Amino acid sequence: MRIGVLTSGGDCPGLNAVIRSVVHRAVVDHGDEVIGFHDGWRGLLECDYRKLDLDSVAGILARGGTILGSSRVQPAHLRDGVERARGHVADLGLDAIIPIGGEGTLKAANLLAQGGLPIVGVPKTIDNDISSTDVTFGFDTAVGVATEALDRLKTTAESHQRVMVVEVMGRHTGWIALHSGMAAGAHAIVVPERPFDIEELTAIVGERFSAGKRFAIVVVAEGAKPRPGTMDYQQGGTDQYGHERFAGIGNILAVELERRLGKEARPVILGHVQRGGTPTAYDRVLATRFGWHAVEAAHRGEFGMLTALRGTDIVMVPLAEATSHLKTVPDARYDEAQTVL
Ligand code: F6P
Repeated sequence: MRIGVLTSGGDCPGLNAVIRSVVHRAVVDHGDEVIGFHDGWRGLLECDYRKLDLDSVAGILARGGTILGSSRVQPAHLRDGVERARGHVADLGLDAIIPIGGEGTLKAANLLAQGGLPIVGVPKTIDNDISSTDVTFGFDTAVGVATEALDRLKTTAESHQRVMVVEVMGRHTGWIALHSGMAAGAHAIVVPERPFDIEELTAIVGERFSAGKRFAIVVVAEGAKPRPGTMDYQQGGTDQYGHERFAGIGNILAVELERRLGKEARPVILGHVQRGGTPTAYDRVLATRFGWHAVEAAHRGEFGMLTALRGTDIVMVPLAEATSHLKTVPDARYDEAQTVL
């Protein structure tokens, strides 16, 4: 079998572990040939690739980022994107393509699969917002980074009697905010799923100071927004890929809380540090299992499918189902977090 693999969209700790696993399972166990496309779909669309053998994946298990590079180029963005992809798959004699990516990448994968291409998707994102899988690799690493930052910020916040507003990643969903906030014992968690009321938030933080505490930690997901009509708020427009530009909610909240509470507040934007560096053991294992199962699915001819974690098992789910909606933080999960704040 000849298999093509690519990593597309925002990078994520664990991508290299998937690539390594695909190569090991395919080359060693099945005697397949594997090629890796450079910079995501761009590599497939421009036929830019290299052969992957055991040497090329040696030592990458613990390395962050992706040895293949990534981009946000999507076949659907080009008028002849799907046709071009189909042509290159035929020219290269590929029997399977394994795209590793998040929401946008998997939608593109589904489009190509519906166009008849032999696709087996692997989900990745630190945001953990892909439905159909209990967890995506990268999430555990990101939560660990954010939790460590929150722990560290507590001591400096206490020294200076400040409010720290810590903005974490999460374009559409608040999973990183929820988990890191719970793990570090934050005093308020603000997520996109629940537009916030600035007066309620001010009251929560204010009560803490009234109770004699010296500091407060607020965790906010970058995509969080105020409840319409509750405060002045300017959205950030969209970027070249149609993604919403963030308004800088961490800064906005720090300014508002300082003004309303008369307490010093500082914004801390964790940004891409949450995506960089070495994956946790959990993410390495999940990524490795996804790679292994993607190769197996390709050998069974199960195309148009995605590897997914259900409980402790890896299962295959249709790409169409997995891309139909995002996995948001349910109210019940958010409410659990409130009781421990
Ligand atoms: O998809 C993961 C994510 O980390 C989002 O939380 C974030 O909004 C986005 O990627 C930012 O990615 P980039 O700056 O690479 O476009």
